[in-house]
Parts: sequence; C-alpha cells; structure tokens
Amino acid sequence: MEDKIVVLSGAGISRESGLDTFRDRGGIWDQYSPQKVASIAGFRADPELVQEFYNMRRVELLSGKIEPNPAHFALSRLQGFLPNSCYIVTQNIDDLHSRAGSKEVIHIHGETLGSLCSFCGMRMRCETSISAADVCEKCLKVGGIRPDVVFFGEIPYHLPRVYELLKDCTLFVAIGTAGAVYPAAGFVDNAVRARKIEINLAATEISDLFDENRYGKASVEVPRLVEELLAEA
Ligand code: APR
Repeated sequence: MEDKIVVLSGAGISRESGLDTFRDRGGIWDQYSPQKVASIAGFRADPELVQEFYNMRRVELLSGKIEPNPAHFALSRLQGFLPNSCYIVTQNIDDLHSRAGSKEVIHIHGETLGSLCSFCGMRMRCETSISAADVCEKCLKVGGIRPDVVFFGEIPYHLPRVYELLKDCTLFVAIGTAGAVYPAAGFVDNAVRARKIEINLAATEISDLFDENRYGKASVEVPRLVEELLAEA
C-alpha cells in the first residue's frame, strides 16, 4: 500500500538557501525580540516596528540571493511521484517549497509574500513594503493592512486539515525544526499510525518522540530519504 506522507518543515530546511533560522546561535531571535516583532501584543504596541521586520523579510526573499536548495527540490520530486498522498506542512513563511515546484504546501504560520486586511480579511499577494498608510483594495479602509503571518498569540492556519492528514498518515517526517513551538512541535504525537523520522543537524527537544533520527544537513539527508522512499515505492 502506498505511503501517506506528511512532511513538517521548519526553518532548518531553508538555512542552506541563505535564510537564518530562529533559535540557532546568531539566528533571528538573537537579533530581534520575538515579543516585540512577532507577537500580537508587539504588533498592537508598535505596528511600525513589526511591519518593518516583515518588510525586511520580503526584501530578503526577493533579493535574488535566496533559492530553493536540494531538500526543497527532493520533496517536490517526491510529491510528483505521489500525487495526493504527500503533503508538506510548513512552519516557514518563505515560498521556497513552492519555488521548488511543490504543489501541496500548507503554510500554518502564513506567508512573507502575503498581506491581510485586519478589517475585512482580504488576502493579497504582496511583494512590496506595507505601511500604515496602505488602503485595502476591497473595503477601502486605511491602516488595516498587515503581513499575512501568524503572530505569537494567534492561532495557526489550517489546523483542522493538518490534524486530519496527521491522523491518516503512515509516514511523518519533521525536517529542520527545533520542536520548540506548539502546536507544530506536538504534531508528531498526532501521527499515531505513522513511522516517524526526524531530520536535523542535531538532537532536538522532541527527538525521543521519533522512531528514527537522521542527523545531518537537510540538503543531504532529505534527498537521501526521498531516494529511499522512491526505491521502496
Ligand atoms: N539542516 C537541517 N537542520 C538544520 C539545518 C540544516 N542545514 N540548519 C539548522 N537546522 C535545525 C536546527 O538544528 C534547529 O533545530 O533547524 C532547526 C531550526 O529551529 P528554529 O530556528 O527554532 O526554527 P523552527 O523550528 O522552524 O521554528 C518554529 O518558531 O519563532 C518561530 O514562527 C517561527 O515558524 C517558526 C517557529
């Protein structure tokens, strides 16, 4: 029987594409306070600071220097072989899975290249800076446009669908995530029927919950795993 696969990716999968992770030494949370730039309370206290933080993320992602790496491409290849039975659930707000050709990417923390109107809920693709002067194209109100990302203190997107996929999956693979932020850190417990594999540079807080731990770079370990899975299929 064909595997039903759920891949959970975190910042580590995009590290070799040139994007900083959050909790590694020198990572984003060493440079900025998550409470100030990425929480709903921080956004209410100083929206401009938060907009600036995500405006910079948008510039970085579109700089031409950030490209998908072999881990993103290998997952896209796997999805191509297993249409409708391989889902990528990502905590990442970058678009590197899609740029590598992946079709089924579930962004539970939103997307850097998206805007959301706090007044009417209108979502748009956004490749430019967002400011307090922006007008929503739908409701025409000023000052409600924000990044379409999930701040600390908000509920991640698409959770009912993710839990449904986890319940049925036969293989769960977590790649490049420290397992420090819930609910994603708890997904491994919801994959009750699955063989569970963790890929990371080193052991994490949740390594014990997996059947297998493969330590190494995502750009090496993910293509290796995908080759194994395709050979078994
Ligand atoms: N290959 C594999 N793993 C790697 C690599 C690599 N090249 N580089 C780093 N890692 C691992 C690190 O060892 C670490 O365990 O990736 C993990 C990154 O952890 P975090 O920086 O905490 O990122 P993540 O788990 O995705 O964070 C979850 O926290 O603040 C947030 O909203 C943000 O979505 C993010 C969430």
